[in-house]
Amino acid sequence: MSAPAATGQTPLRVGLLGCGTVGAAVAQALSTRPALYAERVGSPIEVCGIAVRNVDAPRELHAGLSGLLTTDASSVVHGADLVVEVMGGIEPAQSLVRLALEQGKPVVTANKQLIAASGQELVEVARQQATSLDYEAAVAAAVPVLRVVRESLAGDRISSITGIVNGSTNFVLDMVARHGLGFAEAVERAGQLGYLEADPTEDLDGLDAAAKIVILARTAWMVDVGLADVHREGIAHLTDDDFEAAASCGQVIKLVASAWASGDPAHPHVEMAVRPVALGADDPLAQVREGRNGVVIEAESAGLVSLFGPGAGGPETASAVLGDLVNAACRLRQ
Ligand code: HSE
Repeated sequence: MSAPAATGQTPLRVGLLGCGTVGAAVAQALSTRPALYAERVGSPIEVCGIAVRNVDAPRELHAGLSGLLTTDASSVVHGADLVVEVMGGIEPAQSLVRLALEQGKPVVTANKQLIAASGQELVEVARQQATSLDYEAAVAAAVPVLRVVRESLAGDRISSITGIVNGSTNFVLDMVARHGLGFAEAVERAGQLGYLEADPTEDLDGLDAAAKIVILARTAWMVDVGLADVHREGIAHLTDDDFEAAASCGQVIKLVASAWASGDPAHPHVEMAVRPVALGADDPLAQVREGRNGVVIEAESAGLVSLFGPGAGGPETASAVLGDLVNAACRLRQ
């Protein structure tokens, strides 16, 4: 990343698609740390529009940002130099990301379901238009696992990736294991605290974790895999008896996502799974608490590389979005 001088430059205009927990955190950071971004990018970064479904929905934004809210998402894309998509879901996110890329504009997204479903196709559009699509925030939020897999371990041979990549279910399982809540009560508590997705089955049935392991597997092995290839079992069917049985053996149940390669290293066969696993108390993943994430990557030369940290939350996910944004803005300036 270059850090050219920041004086007297035309601002880079960022169009924000979505203003939920993550979008609001991105907007707040951009408006409260202008000098930091101007210094790192070499031009000021300004938010030029924020597309939302309902302009009047309650949200915590200061007046300068509230004035940028609009329901006309296409106009936000048209008016921007770079686009940040944090609306989630497949449509209209997919069409808007495609529109931006077709206009040659870099896109940063935190949308795991979109990237798992159409990431390869959208990356190809970006490539054809000589622009970029970045999505570090889509997997494990503030934990920079995609960058490590793609860049730091680019010269190594990864054999497996195993992790806790869904913070909500980890919160539920941790409440049961360490705080003694019944399973149903822990799910209810997670919902009350806003930990669960709008559709809780995304978390509880392992769909969210499946999307993330698909993205990790594609990044590690450049294979054409999708959600349908994941052997998936969620935690919704677990009972208090299951947790008691695990505890009596000194184990904790975690929702573990894993991907592993076998066969010819040049054309590996990749398998993926998401399932509840009873881990020994000394397993590094057994130590992952509350809504945090942890990922262990095994590579031929590096051995075991472990990454742990916040895997969800507004400012935490915004941290990863902003990292991608600063890098994309630097490339744009160059
Ligand atoms: N529901 C997701 C999780 C949010 O709990 O990990 C972050 O992707």
